[in-house]
Amino acid sequence: MSFLTPPPHASGATPPQLPAQLVPGHIAIVMDGNGRWANERGLPRTEGHRKGEEALLDVVAGALDIGVKHLSAYAFSTENWRRSPAEVSFILGFSREVLRKHQDMLHSWGVRIQWAGRRPRLWGSVIRQLEEAAELTKHNDRLTLTMCINYGGRAEIADAAAAIAADVAAGRISGRRVSEEMVARYLYQPQLPDVDMVWRTGGEHRLSNFLLWQAAYAELVFTDEPWPEADRRALWRAIELYARRDRRFGGAVERASK
Ligand code: FPP
Repeated sequence: MSFLTPPPHASGATPPQLPAQLVPGHIAIVMDGNGRWANERGLPRTEGHRKGEEALLDVVAGALDIGVKHLSAYAFSTENWRRSPAEVSFILGFSREVLRKHQDMLHSWGVRIQWAGRRPRLWGSVIRQLEEAAELTKHNDRLTLTMCINYGGRAEIADAAAAIAADVAAGRISGRRVSEEMVARYLYQPQLPDVDMVWRTGGEHRLSNFLLWQAAYAELVFTDEPWPEADRRALWRAIELYARRDRRFGGAVERASK
């Protein structure tokens, strides 16, 4: 299948030259700082989310440019229901419309779109749009964009535990065989690989319940720009920070002392 190349960044910037093994395969993004960005400009918080649309599309383009295979974007968490009803409605409706508006373009770029999140309470119209985008793009493999909507890391692990318990009770599996590999198969998207890098914009240093299982050994990269100011250049800078990290996955290497 042939795909369109996303347009270059307006500045003409090109990705840094990095050896392929230093480019993270899976980046999980916490798109933070929308509300503060808007309020600092005397705008309602929702204007910050609106601006986040352009940022996300440019970051997807930048991920394709540099060869990232998985991006997971935290659009709405299981805790975000605590926000005002107006903001909840805005984020859910806006996420649905962003998908509807851009799924054809993302498809033309070879992006596969999928959803990770909890079904109960999430609007049916959002689930239908996510399913439509997933169906349209299911054969694409240049990059997988996992939209995390009504997603919580603890909820995901609890839902997996509940599903395993139900299968044990029904005699479909033996409780003695529960292992890390089995738990991973019960997550919302079992094929999602481990996260290599969590990138959070907006200056806060927190995971906020994002992909807790998958990010067990992720490198955490925090940058100060609010999400509405992020673009592919900010993504590439974050990847350059990641590329300098020494990943040991619990192992250790002897180093001669000076
Ligand atoms: C965090 O900023 C952002 C969110 C909780 C929502 C993210 C949603 C979007 C970027 C828009 C919709 C989705 C798509 C598909 C682009 P915040 O509101 O917590 O900001 P603050 O920390 O400044 O309050």
